[in-house]
Order: sequence, then structure tokens, then C-alpha cells
Amino acid sequence: MEIQVQKGDLENFKCDALIINLFQGVTNLSGGTGSVDKALEGLVSKIIKEDKFEGKEGQIFSFRTLGKLSAKHVIVVGLGNKKDFKTENIRRVAALSIKKAKELGVRTIGSIVHGTGIGDIAPHSTAQAIVEGTMLADYSFKKFKKADAKKEAQQGIKIFTLIENDARKIKATQQGVEDGLTTSLGTIFARDLVNEPSLHMTPVELVEKAKQIAKSSKGKIRIKVYDKVGLEKMKAGGILGVAMGSDHPPYMVHMTWKPQNAKKKIALVGKAITFDSGGLSLKPSNVMEMMKLDMAGAASVLGAFSVLTRIKPQAEIHGIFAACENMPSGKAYRPGDILETSSGKTIEVLNTDAEGRITLADSLHYATKLKPDCIIDLATLTGACMVGLGDYCAGIMGNNNKLIDKILDAADKTGEALWKLPLPKEYHQLIDSKFADMKNIGGKYGGALTAGLFLQEFVGEIPWAHIDLAGPSFAEIEYVPYIPLGGSGYGVRTLLEFIKSL
Ligand code: BES
Ligand code: ZN
Ligand code: ZN
Repeated sequence: MEIQVQKGDLENFKCDALIINLFQGVTNLSGGTGSVDKALEGLVSKIIKEDKFEGKEGQIFSFRTLGKLSAKHVIVVGLGNKKDFKTENIRRVAALSIKKAKELGVRTIGSIVHGTGIGDIAPHSTAQAIVEGTMLADYSFKKFKKADAKKEAQQGIKIFTLIENDARKIKATQQGVEDGLTTSLGTIFARDLVNEPSLHMTPVELVEKAKQIAKSSKGKIRIKVYDKVGLEKMKAGGILGVAMGSDHPPYMVHMTWKPQNAKKKIALVGKAITFDSGGLSLKPSNVMEMMKLDMAGAASVLGAFSVLTRIKPQAEIHGIFAACENMPSGKAYRPGDILETSSGKTIEVLNTDAEGRITLADSLHYATKLKPDCIIDLATLTGACMVGLGDYCAGIMGNNNKLIDKILDAADKTGEALWKLPLPKEYHQLIDSKFADMKNIGGKYGGALTAGLFLQEFVGEIPWAHIDLAGPSFAEIEYVPYIPLGGSGYGVRTLLEFIKSL
């Protein structure tokens, strides 16, 4: 889909479908919607009145113009209450509108710029949100459904044009479109990685994706890859231990964006288990069937890196992940084994399914050696986090409230659901081991928190935040119209927003 901005009037725009809107309770149509209504001699007002269309958020209808307008169809979408209107509403109505347009089988769309000037929503944010809602709702993973992919290429939306008649707002709108494209492309990059089955998305393939990002950055992003020998030299016994059961060798990847005179340095660390069978502590098959998602943390880091050349951040940014597969076999690590990680700390493995924290122990320790101002890790770490927060909302914990609050702020702006969880020191005893420095499981309760406390052991004094995205990384239910089923790319937009705020 191509996205454009054009200065002009909605009523004169030639396209297959025109998107206009209505705030709840408004009967006297004004602005772009009013002009379209006028050009149609009051048809929109009439339908609204007769069909009792109230403009509730997400309410939507369409009609054919039968030659009375340059556009063939008009789609009217409800924006809800003016006073509750936020950028997240814009993403959602844009998503619903594009879905409606696809139902109608149209290919070119002209859209009103929803709600500019309402509250503190600036033209830039509006345009960005419309592009995000549109692009992310239009996404589908059709690689293995070739007939559908062909149909999409032939019949999908081709051109989406934002129409703005105020010349003073054009520049900001264009910039918003560019920024919306950036965040959407990064998110889509992550979605594709997560949706790709583990058969193809092996550790070496994930490394390949990182190398491609570095290559297309034309030297702006550097990459270091540690293979099994490199990991042995690093004494990364955590990742080496988890990888033992798999025929696919493990890798550690370190990507760097380093502008001149950077004042801040941050490290982004992602969990990258390309398939989590549970290992010898085997998962039941109904849970295992979605475990291709277990590299979603690394996918989000890669998604963010994939668009860094578009954002050109001032800060130095490091992306780190340890890619491997957690499999049972005659060579697999066992419950009862003790692994020595690169930090020198030892881990008693009591459940081979709590593997993410073991690999993260090595990647977090690697990150600390870069002496960053902060570390953010993203990991599909615990089912317990999903028990607490459900599968729409991710959890965030860490050792620095300022950092957590900054990330929560960024998440709030992007509409990604994120909730703060505590790391009570009282629970630390739950991961004490009789034979090693710690064990890899906690007690009966608070599994997300004991996993967080475990990770904390490997970050030293560096401000650190841990995002457990086990729930929202993969949509099994469509909670939000721009997050279709499958890999969601959760985290990319929040990371980018955070990076921009530095
Ligand atoms: N990858 C899983 C966590 C997960 C579960 C992600 C469901 C997405 C959906 C992780 O490696 C895991 O298996 N964690 C165990 C830990 C337990 C054994 C302490 C869990 O949460 O059950
Ligand atoms: Zn596991
Ligand atoms: Zn896992």
C-alpha cells in the first residue's frame, strides 16, 4: 500500500472510497464530513438520522455515491465522545475503516484526517496514528497461503491518501505519515519474524535477518556474531546449556548503532528461543503449538533496529540476543544440571522449560560489559505474567523507577498495553538454590516476579527494565482492530518512542 498526503477538498477527491467521520452526538455536520454532506445534498445527515447512527467509537457504515461524488463509496466511521478522544482512538478507527474498505473490495482510498486539533492532538500525531492503524490492520501473513497472497496483490488496497485542505498543516501531516510508516514497518518486520514457523526461523536464520539489517544500513549498523566457539570462549554456559538438546547451534548477536557524539548509550536485549518445546520438562502439545513465538523479544529488538536508519537517533543503541532452540534429546540439558554463566554465577536447572532466563543471564551480562546508561530486555518469559495480566497486556519490572516510568510513558503514547509489576526482595529466597548461586524456578506463586528477580542478578547496578511480553507478543484474540491474529510486533513501537524521547 502506498500512502500519500494531498492538499485539497474531500468532496472533490477521485477515489474508490472516501473515509469521513462523526463524533458521537453531533447532528450538525461540519469540517470535511460537512463538506461531503453538502456535496451530496444532505445525504449523509439523512442516513445518520434515519438509521440512528450515533457516531459511537467504531460504529461504521458505507454507501455508494452513484456518481454524485468523485468517490464511488463513502465510509462513515464513528469517533466516539470528543472529550475521550485520544490518538489510540484514531489508530482504531483507521483500522476499522481500512477493514471496511477491504470488504468493499476498493483499491484507492481518500481519508479525512481524523480529529486534528481535538484536545492536544497535533496534525503530526493524527497522521502518524492513521498510518499505523491503517498499515497494521492491513497486514497479514500470507507467505504460506499463496492463493490468498495473490488475491491480496491483485485486489488489496493500492493507494491511501490523506486529504488535508489547510495548507499550514500539510508539512506536519507529511512528517506524521513518514513517522507512522517507520513505526509500522518496524512492527511488521517483527511480526513477520514471529509468524515464520520455527522450521524456517532457526537460530542461524534469525542471525541472517540481523545481518540483513546491518547490510542494508550501509555501515550505519554494525554487527558482531558469536558462534558456538565464540560462546565457549565467552564461557556463556547458560545459552550453551539450553542449546544442547537441539541440532541447531546457538548464536549470540550484538548490533550497534553508534552516532558521533552520542550522549546516551542504551542496550536492548531480546529473548530469542526460536522454538520452546520445554526441553526434557516437555510442554503439553496444545501449549507447545504456539512456541514459535518465543523469539518475539528479539524480534522486537530487530524490528526497532530495522528502522533506525529512518529515525537516525542521537543515542548509541546496542541490540543483543542469544538465539537457540530448546529441545529434548539425548544431548539435552537435564533437570538437576548446574550451568555456569558468563558472569561466573551458577544456575541449578530444576525445570528445563524455564530456559529464557538462563539464556538472558548471558545476554544481560554481555550488555552490562558495554556499560550502557540503561538496559531494557524484552522476553516472552512466563505464563505466570499472562495469568496475572492476561494476553493483551505486558508486564514491566526493574530496578529503576525513573526508567520504568519513561517506558510506561512511551507505551501509553503508542497504545501498547503495559503494566508495572513489583520485584519484592522478600521473594528472593524463592530462587535460592542449595547447590548453586540460584535455581531457575521460584515457588508456587508470583512466577513473573521470581523470573524478574532472577534476571536482576545479571544486571548489576545498571538501570534496567524487563518487559515480559509472553501475552501480547502473539494475538490469539483480536482485542484491537489493528492487531490481527498472530505475531503482533508488540514492543517495537514503544521501543521506538522511548528511543525518540532520549
Ligand atoms: N516461553 C515460555 C513462556 C510462555 C508461555 C510464553 C506461554 C508465551 C506463552 C517460558 O519459557 C516458559 O516455559 N516458562 C515457564 C516457566 C516455569 C517452568 C517456571 C512457564 O511460564 O510456565
Ligand atoms: Zn520455556
Ligand atoms: Zn520460553
